Amino acid sequence: MKIIVKKDYDSMSKEAAGIVRKEIEKKKDIVLGLATGSTPIGMYKELIRMHKEEGLDFSHVVSFNLDEYIGIDYDNPNSYHYYMKENLFDHINILKENTFIPDGNSDDLEESCRIYDKLIEEKGGIDLQILGIGANGHIGFNEPAEELNYGTSVVDLDDRTIKDNARFFNSIDEVPKKAITMGIGTIMKAKKIILMANGKNKAEAISKLIKGKKITTKLPATLLLLHPDVTVIVDEEAYSLGK
Ligand code: F6R
Repeated sequence: MKIIVKKDYDSMSKEAAGIVRKEIEKKKDIVLGLATGSTPIGMYKELIRMHKEEGLDFSHVVSFNLDEYIGIDYDNPNSYHYYMKENLFDHINILKENTFIPDGNSDDLEESCRIYDKLIEEKGGIDLQILGIGANGHIGFNEPAEELNYGTSVVDLDDRTIKDNARFFNSIDEVPKKAITMGIGTIMKAKKIILMANGKNKAEAISKLIKGKKITTKLPATLLLLHPDVTVIVDEEAYSLGK
């Protein structure tokens, strides 16, 4: 696991965008795994800048998002469908038909999970997966538990995640309690992974991860210690509990 510590959020975001850019330039039809939340917004801004000012081309890029809430309208600004349009897709030349996000409004959620994993395989698998991390160590919405799902699945959100994500909603009661998320197996099959974290509230989870001493489903990000190509990019605050 490679660890890159940057001074602040802005330089963390630029570092991550630089790696994404290099990978797109190496393979123009790259399959990206994308995250939402507050962490990758600066990276998306930088990728948009690279597209607009330097011609970074997304026309052959395929993307799969990690997760989506269940039972939220896609025109609701808190849905991840809306988030992706607003923060990336509407500002670059990616083709809509090449962007995939789990369908949290499907009549058959289990079937839609199965189809999602199949589609990822059909597109050749994820080349580069972008991850954030929950304060509780979740990746995607794979919450700390005795057992973790291998494939894309319907999950209950942890109380801490519901509290953390309430900042995006009018009240905590509006935060969905369930989501669809790529499973740990889906994530681990990605050829290359970047995990980003900024801010003090991530410091504890990051410290446990980079200590690299224990792998536990109680801190799902530690499963990444088993992956051969993970780069963790953190700002100084997220690194503040260090090794
Ligand atoms: C988002 C996702 C989550 C977030 C995590 C951190 O698609 O899968 O694992 O990456 O909850 O969220 P932020 O970045 O808002 O702190």
